[in-house]
Amino acid sequence: SDPLRLGIAGLGTVGTGVVKIVRRHADLLTARTGRPITISAVSARSRDKDRGVPLKDYAWEDNAVELAQRDDVDVFVELMGGEDGPAKAATEAAIAAGKQVVTANKAMLAIHGQNLAEAAEASGTQIRYEAAVAGGIPVIKALTEGLAGNEITRVMGVMNGTCNYILTKMEATGQGYNALFEECAKLGYLEADPNLDVGGIDAAHKLAILSSIAFGTQVNFDGIEIEGIQRITLSDIRHAADMGFRIKLLGVAQMTGRGLEQRMTPCLVPYDSPLGQLEGGTNMVVIEGDSVEQIVLRGPGAGEGPTASAVMADICDIARGTRLPVFGTPSNTLTKAPAARSASA
Ligand code: NAP
Ligand code: HSE
Repeated sequence: SDPLRLGIAGLGTVGTGVVKIVRRHADLLTARTGRPITISAVSARSRDKDRGVPLKDYAWEDNAVELAQRDDVDVFVELMGGEDGPAKAATEAAIAAGKQVVTANKAMLAIHGQNLAEAAEASGTQIRYEAAVAGGIPVIKALTEGLAGNEITRVMGVMNGTCNYILTKMEATGQGYNALFEECAKLGYLEADPNLDVGGIDAAHKLAILSSIAFGTQVNFDGIEIEGIQRITLSDIRHAADMGFRIKLLGVAQMTGRGLEQRMTPCLVPYDSPLGQLEGGTNMVVIEGDSVEQIVLRGPGAGEGPTASAVMADICDIARGTRLPVFGTPSNTLTKAPAARSASA
């Protein structure tokens, strides 16, 4: 069969992870999808940086928009990040050129996903984003495929590993928020703008994507009530523990009589619940449906291997020729009514 040819823009943590998997598992990927998966070209800011992976076999493009339009690229893999800028410009260029797109960029999708998905549908291509929510946990696949026969009643979860790390370590060590924020900065856990993590915005980006798929609504990031963890004190954590609870930055999306209710706020969860047991930088997503009742998905929400694993799942699906029902597009939207803010907002 013809190879599926990738153009990868962004060779940081996730991009180099994808290059490594394509190289390491060439035979496995061909066996699983029926087609060789190859890399035609790559792009990043600095051509000279040593990235720990051999890149000499691939064409280099300084400009991601040019990469996205190359004739020898079937799938544009956007791993640069950023809500706007080159990520959005190159994604739009790829869609206009009829390329398939795979991205891990939750910020771009939460804000512009609606327009991008509609453009992709109009041009007969698709944009896929398994890695954008909860890293290595295949939650998009679970919702769109495994639970396709369910009316989803609620989606909730812990979707920012950094916040969960800070909150669980505050409890375990008695260290305060500020000390642990500094530790996360040193460990490289924080986003370039740390407020995206601790302000709950990164997790809300993920919730906006999940809830639109779960409930067949347009992506509505602005409809999410958001509160971060910056004001959580050791005293809050101790009082919660005394009552048998832990504090988690919890995202909840559910359909109510007023429309879609979405919130990302610090919540008390019982110690003896799956969410209450979640430690460190791990993510957990709980999905409730009318037939399945409840499933709990738990795993690494970030990092090179887990995130690249999710990017590869999308690439393999494209190689197999399967299509993903994308959020909010004319053919996948149940309601176009603007979603309500949380009832408690
Ligand atoms: P990263 O390590 O910062 O890498 C970003 C890459 O994009 C770098 O190679 C950088 O080039 C390149 N880049 C940035 N701006 C560019 C520009 N203007 N033009 C061309 N190239 C540009 O980021 P990452 O952690 O891999 O994240 C990539 C995406 O995955 C983001 O959308 C992120 O939110 C998402 N994601 C990441 C994780 C994770 O655990 N890291 C998890 C889930 C989702 P240089 O290397 O030359 O500077
Ligand atoms: N900053 C994010 C987190 C990275 O801590 O979960 C993965 O999206």
